[in-house]
Order: sequence, then structure tokens, then C-alpha cells
Amino acid sequence: MGRLKVAPAALAGIVLCACGGSEPAASAGGAGIVARDALCGDHAWCDPGMTPEARTALLLDAMTLGQKISLLAGDDVFGSVTGEPANGTSEGIPELGIPTLYFSDGPVGPRKGRATAHPSPALLASTFDPELARETGAVIANEVRNKGAHVVHGPAVDIMRTPVAGRSFESYGEDPLLSARMGTAWIQGAQSQGVVANIKHYTANNQEGQFGILPLTGLVGGRFIVNAVVDERSLREIYLPAFEDAVREGGVGSVMCAYNRVNGAAACSSESLLTDILRGEWGFDGFVLTDYFFAQKNTTPALRAGTDLEMPVPILYSAAAIRLQMALGRVDEALIDERLGNILRTMFRFGFFDQPPFEENDAAIDQEAHARVAREVAEQGTVLLQNDGLLPLRAEDIGSIAVIGAADRIVSGGGSSAVAPFRQTNPLDGIRERAGDGVTVHFTDGSDADAAAALAAEADVAIVFAAVELSEGVDRPCLALSCRGDRPDQDALIERVAAANPRTVAVLQSGTPVLTPWRDRLAALIQAWYPGQEGGAAIARVLFGDVDPGGRLAATFPEREADLPTAGSVAAYPGLLIRAEYREGVLIGYRWYDEKAIVPAFAFGHGLSYTTFAYEDLAVDADGVSFTVHNTGDRAGTTVPQLYVGMPDPAPGIVQPPLQLKGFDKLALAPGERADVRIPFEARSFAYWNAAADAWTTAPGCYRIAVGASSRDIRLEGRLARAGGACE
Ligand code: BGC
Repeated sequence: MGRLKVAPAALAGIVLCACGGSEPAASAGGAGIVARDALCGDHAWCDPGMTPEARTALLLDAMTLGQKISLLAGDDVFGSVTGEPANGTSEGIPELGIPTLYFSDGPVGPRKGRATAHPSPALLASTFDPELARETGAVIANEVRNKGAHVVHGPAVDIMRTPVAGRSFESYGEDPLLSARMGTAWIQGAQSQGVVANIKHYTANNQEGQFGILPLTGLVGGRFIVNAVVDERSLREIYLPAFEDAVREGGVGSVMCAYNRVNGAAACSSESLLTDILRGEWGFDGFVLTDYFFAQKNTTPALRAGTDLEMPVPILYSAAAIRLQMALGRVDEALIDERLGNILRTMFRFGFFDQPPFEENDAAIDQEAHARVAREVAEQGTVLLQNDGLLPLRAEDIGSIAVIGAADRIVSGGGSSAVAPFRQTNPLDGIRERAGDGVTVHFTDGSDADAAAALAAEADVAIVFAAVELSEGVDRPCLALSCRGDRPDQDALIERVAAANPRTVAVLQSGTPVLTPWRDRLAALIQAWYPGQEGGAAIARVLFGDVDPGGRLAATFPEREADLPTAGSVAAYPGLLIRAEYREGVLIGYRWYDEKAIVPAFAFGHGLSYTTFAYEDLAVDADGVSFTVHNTGDRAGTTVPQLYVGMPDPAPGIVQPPLQLKGFDKLALAPGERADVRIPFEARSFAYWNAAADAWTTAPGCYRIAVGASSRDIRLEGRLARAGGACE
């Protein structure tokens, strides 16, 4: 048995910190710590032997008010070390030994020149493998520092409230526990490189807005203006856990406050979110920066609530704006010290005063090692949704393959997660290469459905690719592959190809779930998400069975658009002009489908292997569950056993989703191999947010314990009494 791991060789050349998850490697890679005189100078705060707190206090004492204010905002929108456009700077103060900070996107890779373009976060989450998230965070941050930047704007942990949202490909899907596990591991990987992770977008940043609902008003529910109206319990149970875990477990250095409002308050001026919860309850000691340009909505409320750095340039934290508020008596210097102190303390913590600036040097990037991580993630996150036995393909049994549609490019998301790849293998090339000389591969782009059907009819196997573009800035108008008049009509194309050849496989390069009304006519269906620069090779390896498809869905594929938790009410989504009411409450994703007894097309957690697994012998004790997993097929393969808990309704009117993910594992087993699995319970495994008590509460009662291969494929059941309750 093996827990899945990227071969250590894949990370050769990447210096990983041995100092635990929450502490950065101040000297990881690069030139390491050099003599203090050469950098910070001879000032009292330049002594690396002192604590970051003590150094910050000394430095603040030595600064003028003007110097302090100048550090509360960025300075150059596209600034970078070399001047090649990147994601901004905050100028230092050389005479005080304060270095300039450089910032970089993002969750899929750096956005400066060329970089390794990783699979989208929705795919990464579908690996159900936090180790791969850790490795992805590490290799992205390694590139970020080799491009001279100190802060990486990632991960993005906003929950996929609706799959039509323009940025939902950047999300880790619809489940808060999965998002938390992946986000925290990514952060630990990134910070092991001595780079500050900047988790985003805090919080309820779940939509970009829709064109055309009400003509004349522009974008309805647009991200810069929308007010997400979310009840406290849903915030705590759905939208905050990934941020909370990142702070408590991941030691994240920085948080990006979002463009939107939450319950009326701008996210960057919310005392509830920034003062009470983030710092007060969770103990966050890093710094908060604003999303770029329109997240900062005011000066004094943001300063008071806890926004430390306005990005990318000073507007509401300009010297004039802040000094005016000071003159009016609304802001004093102690508040400025508090804000700036958070930035400086984090810079001391990460060693930025004590080491030379990160050098910009693409040549130091181990492109091969990073590409191996990207490919392994793509393989482990690709989801085999259905298969009548056609897959895996055997090149020796096939004379010809018709490749149709969007196979001649890698599809990726637009906006700040768009990365210019170092290199790219598209699926067509990947299939050609893997099929070898003995197989004739024909290609047509699908713009002519008749020609595509004719090509498919003559081939032994047809593989039809569909592409769905998502981008920051605007949501998709519908959930179908092709919305209202889009050309080519990819739904019709799949239907035509499948009608022409029963041995048809469809491969979706779509950032999020889509509607699959034609799926019964296919031999197999693969969700490839946005697979990143190595996606073509990864898809080919999955198709030909060189690797078992490792992915399990991080988000539900609905049968109909009307089944979405946000459907049926403009007030819920995209909102009435600027107000989006999260009416579904905690019932997001599979929680909704289960509670409403709606059968999805493909359930959360679903994904097939080329082998079969039996889950056996469940034992439930107070601390966790144990069971055995058995590879009952004749191929090696991967399985993702998932632990769900069904909570009793604690009181009338408090809805509990029938099942909630509380743990998972991922195993690779040889044919016939058995493995014992243990999934421990955690403090919150049985708790719900009790709004009346303003606290996590475990209700007395009998809890359903379910272990399955998806949220709708429960294989083992048990019960457990908690909090003084009893199981009859
Ligand atoms: C996005 C952020 C991104 C920033 C810098 C903003 O528009 O919302 O996610 O990090 O730009 O590119």
C-alpha cells in the first residue's frame, strides 16, 4: 500500500523548510542570511537575535509619522524588481533598513513573464491529496521568489457557491473541510520557501456578477459592489473554515480582504471579520492587505477594523487622506502603529530585513521538477465520471482515433490566475504521442459538426473535447457547455459524435461542473478541469491507463441548472442589483442536493478508478473510524474513502445537512491489496455553529457515521452517541 506522494526527486532542487508548518524558512534557498550590516544596517532593530515584536517596537519608535504612513499602501501597480510587469510593490525606506516588498499572483503560478502553469485549484482540490497542495504551494512560491517577490497572492479559498461564478475555477470547491485542508497545506508549502502566503479573498467573495439581468444597470451583483447577506452560522460553517484553518494551523502571514461587502460592511472595513474574528478569535498576527483598487472603501473604518495595507497604490490610505482623518481626531498615531506594526512584524518574521532581496532569476527555477508536480496533480485530479469499459484505451487494439473539438489547446481561467506557461502540451499532441505510430490520429476542431461526425464514424474510437472558459470579472450566463447561441454548439457536437460512434469518450476542459445531458450516449466521460501546462500529457496518460484517474469531484455536477442551491431566486443569485441573499444558508453543494433529495448528475466525491475497491469492517469509537479497503480488481489503482457525519437536528428550525464531510484519505493499492484505514474525528466533527450561543456546540444525540466512495456512494454505516445523547 502507498499513501500517494510525488517522488521526492520531483522536488529536487527545491529547498523545503524543516521547521514545521507555521514558520517560514527565512533563509530557504538563495543566499541565506548575510551579515546584518550589509542589509538592515546598524540599527537596534537589525539584530536578528531579537523577537519580531521587539524589533518592530524599536523600529516604530524611530520612524516619523510620514514614514509610517508611506508604508500603509503599495506604490507601483505593475512594479517588479526588473520592471517587467508584475503585481506591485511597496517601497521600503533604505535609511531605516526597510526593504521594498514585491507582490505576485497567484494560485496557479506567478504572473510575471513565463512560469509553470499549474492545474486550476478546483482540480487540485479534486486530488483529495493535501500533500499535492503542499507541493504545489512550494513550487509556486519557489518561482515567485525566483521572480523577486516576497508575497504570493494565494491560495484562493472562496467556496464555490455556484459553478457559474467567473472565479469558481480558482476555488477548492464546495466543501469547507476539503477547502481548509487543501488551502492550509498550500500555505505551508508556500511559506516553506520563505515567501508570505496571502490567503484570499476574505470573505464571501463568491461571484463576479451577471450581465443582462436588468439592462441599463450593467453588472448585477458585481464583485466590487455586491453585499453578500450571509447568516452567521453559514459564515462560520461554510465560508470561514478555510481561513480559520489557515490562521490556526497554517500560520498564514497575510490575508487579502475582498472587494464585496458582507452583511452591509465592506470586507476591508468589517470590525466583525477583521477585528473580532480574524485577530480576536483566531489570533491572526500577520497583515491584511486589500484586493486591488476597489476593495478599500474608506479610510478610518478600514484603519480601525484592521486593514493594514492598501493595494496597489495609496488612495484611501494616501498621506492626505490619513492626515485629514488625524486632523479630524478620528485616527491617532497609535492606530497607525498598530496597522504598520502588523506589516513590519511579518517582514521580520519572514527574515526580509536580514537577507538580500530575492534575486530575479528564471534560470534558478527547476522547470522540469515543477512540471512533474503539475503533471502529477493533473493526473491525480482528473476525474473519470463514467466508463462502460472502453477506458483505458489499449493502443495495440486501436487502428484509428478521431480527436474532435477543443483538443488543440490547454484551456485555463482568465484574470489574475492566467499564467503564461513555460511550455505546454495540448491534449491532441499528448494523445498522438502516447498512441504511437501504430495508431492513426485524425483531428477536426468541431466547428463543422457534419465533418466531425463523419470523422468519428470512421474511427475505432472518438474522443471529443469541450472547452468552457471562465474568467475573473464576469460570471457565465448559464451552466450548459454552450450558452445561448455560443458557437460551436458543443452540446450538439457531443451528441453528433456520440451518435456517429458508440465508442465515444468526452473530455471536458471546464473549470467547474457543467450540465451533461448527453452523457448516457457516451462510452466514457472525463472531467479534466483546467489541467495546466502538462494537461495534454496527463489526459493522454489517463486515457491509456498509464495512471489510474486519481480525481474525485470537489463539486457536484447537477442534473439541471434549476437544481443549483442558488437557483430560482434572483435575490439569492446574482442578487437584486447589489444585494445577494445567501438564502440556501449552510445548504451549499451536496448539502443542498441531499437535504432536498435532488439526484445530481455526478455527486460530490465521485470519481471512478480502473479497478474496483471494497470498503469493509467499519469500527467506530469515540476518537475516529477504522475500516479496511480492498482492491478487488486486477489493476493497481487509487481510492478516496470519505468520512461523512450526519448530525441530529439540535432544535426546531435548525436544519442539519444529511451528511457533512469530516475526513478523507487517499490510497494507492496493488491488485488484491488490502489496507487498514483510520480517520480520526476532530474537535468540530460533531459541532455546529450555535447562533444563539455564539459558539460551536455539539448537540446531545445520535450521529450517523458514513464512509463512502462519494457523498452518494456510502459503503459503511455506523452510529455514535455524543454529548450525553444515546443511540436507540
Ligand atoms: C484579484 C486578486 C489578485 C489581484 C492582483 C485582483 O483583481 O481579485 O485575486 O490577486 O487582482 O492581481
